[in-house]
Amino acid sequence: KILILDFGSQYTQLIARAVREANVYCEILPFSKELQPDPSVKGIILSGSPFSVNDKNAPEVNVQALASHTPVLGVCYGAQLTAKQFGGKVEKSNKREYGRAVLHVETEEALLQNITSASQVWMSHGDSILKLPDNFQLLATTDSIPVAAFKSQEDGLKPLYGLQFHPEVYHSIEGKKILQNFLVNICGCSQDWTPAHFVTETVEELKKQIGKQKVIMALSGGVDSTVAAMLIHRAIGKNLHGIFVDNGVLRKDEFEKVLEVYKELGLNVKGIDARKLFYKKLAGKTDPEKKRKAIGKTFIDVFQEAAKEDKDATMLGQGTIYPDVIESVSVHGPSVTIKSHHNVGGLPKKMHLKLVEPLRYLFKDEVRRVGRELGIPDDLLNRHPFPGPGLAIRILGEVTEEKVKLLQAADDIYVKALKKYNLYATVWQAGAILLPVRSVGVMGDERTYEFTVALRAVTSVDGMTADWAHLPYDFLAHVSNEIINSVRGINRVVYDISSKPPATIEWE
Ligand code: XMP
Repeated sequence: KILILDFGSQYTQLIARAVREANVYCEILPFSKELQPDPSVKGIILSGSPFSVNDKNAPEVNVQALASHTPVLGVCYGAQLTAKQFGGKVEKSNKREYGRAVLHVETEEALLQNITSASQVWMSHGDSILKLPDNFQLLATTDSIPVAAFKSQEDGLKPLYGLQFHPEVYHSIEGKKILQNFLVNICGCSQDWTPAHFVTETVEELKKQIGKQKVIMALSGGVDSTVAAMLIHRAIGKNLHGIFVDNGVLRKDEFEKVLEVYKELGLNVKGIDARKLFYKKLAGKTDPEKKRKAIGKTFIDVFQEAAKEDKDATMLGQGTIYPDVIESVSVHGPSVTIKSHHNVGGLPKKMHLKLVEPLRYLFKDEVRRVGRELGIPDDLLNRHPFPGPGLAIRILGEVTEEKVKLLQAADDIYVKALKKYNLYATVWQAGAILLPVRSVGVMGDERTYEFTVALRAVTSVDGMTADWAHLPYDFLAHVSNEIINSVRGINRVVYDISSKPPATIEWE
């Protein structure tokens, strides 16, 4: 495997994803983590950082010590740190570089093998390496900086490399090839981290970890919980007891459809219709956070009640994925914070269950690839994200069964049309929102006074920032007509054209 030491760069996860894409396994660790000797580590990558190597509290590692065991590749800050520690000069240059630059390859060394001579790379740095340490070899430059890539082969050390640009970002056209050169040519990694390999290995590990014990698990119909359940199912079969709750705020027909898919996949999942209880708990609540809490708490109650039939279960399956567990380096100082994750509203500790989390080291795109390997239908794997509190936070104000039915009907028309017009895959998330206002309309000779639905569709990479999707007018016209003509109770459709920030994706 490859280790990526994180110095707090916003791009660190992209390095990891690029390495994984080359079918090489890697892990991200905070730079401050003490490393134990580990023969399975084939190479180390040092990430970028918002710090300058000349800052007083700049995060540091001993690069020489690392290179005594494995090859090291420094990216941006990582390259500057390496150059500085070996006696080079790193300073704020008058030419800062942000964005595109053209790489001039000086030496076609193993790292830059098969890279075209004027390759576009992406820069983002204030400091520059103005002078390399003695014995370091210059590999590439750009028009504005003297050192864009270097190599060093010190006596007694493994090779050291540095790249001033970010090979991991999309705009470094041949960046992935450069990373792959490092992994294969220099570290000697075999590219065998494939979905098939992951499935075989994980199923073996799960068999050992679980043995004869019983695992209970809440499934949501989403990608993560389904893939996690399938892996556990492959390992222990019927000893996995899945529970899928209809909380009354799922999409139209979702409960039945998802249960059907689970059945086809051979999963042992029990469906529980708890709609009435959820509606009761939601009655009278208008505050979004109170609605979320009511749903979270009711879910735990329902789950615990259902789990009573599985008294002998000792383990709890969860679909936790890697971005939820990476220890992130805070940019406000070299302190380390750990993100906590509550996939199912923090299922109570008092249930005394040990966690089984087979996706703990996977990124979302890898979860999909593994899902495909496991034979899960594409329809389920390519689903948009859907919030845990479901339609309850898309019905502004109080949630009632009648309003849920209205919104389900409108949402269903919208989502089906997105699929029919081949637009579903072009947006990151889409859904309809039922507004708590009525307005006047006219249908035939009749005056109507009915609800408004807002359509939302966004493009995004991770949900942290998002833009409204520029859906074709003709498409919007079609959806609007169909909703107003076939959903009694809705006489107006509007399209949300707000980006995040300052708006959010959901309306509550
Ligand atoms: P916002 O509205 O914050 O949403 O821009 C970002 C992403 O998070 C989802 N979301 C939730 N997911 N429970 C969830 O499981 C929630 O309470 C919740 N609120 C928002 C939202 O659907 C979007 O994908």
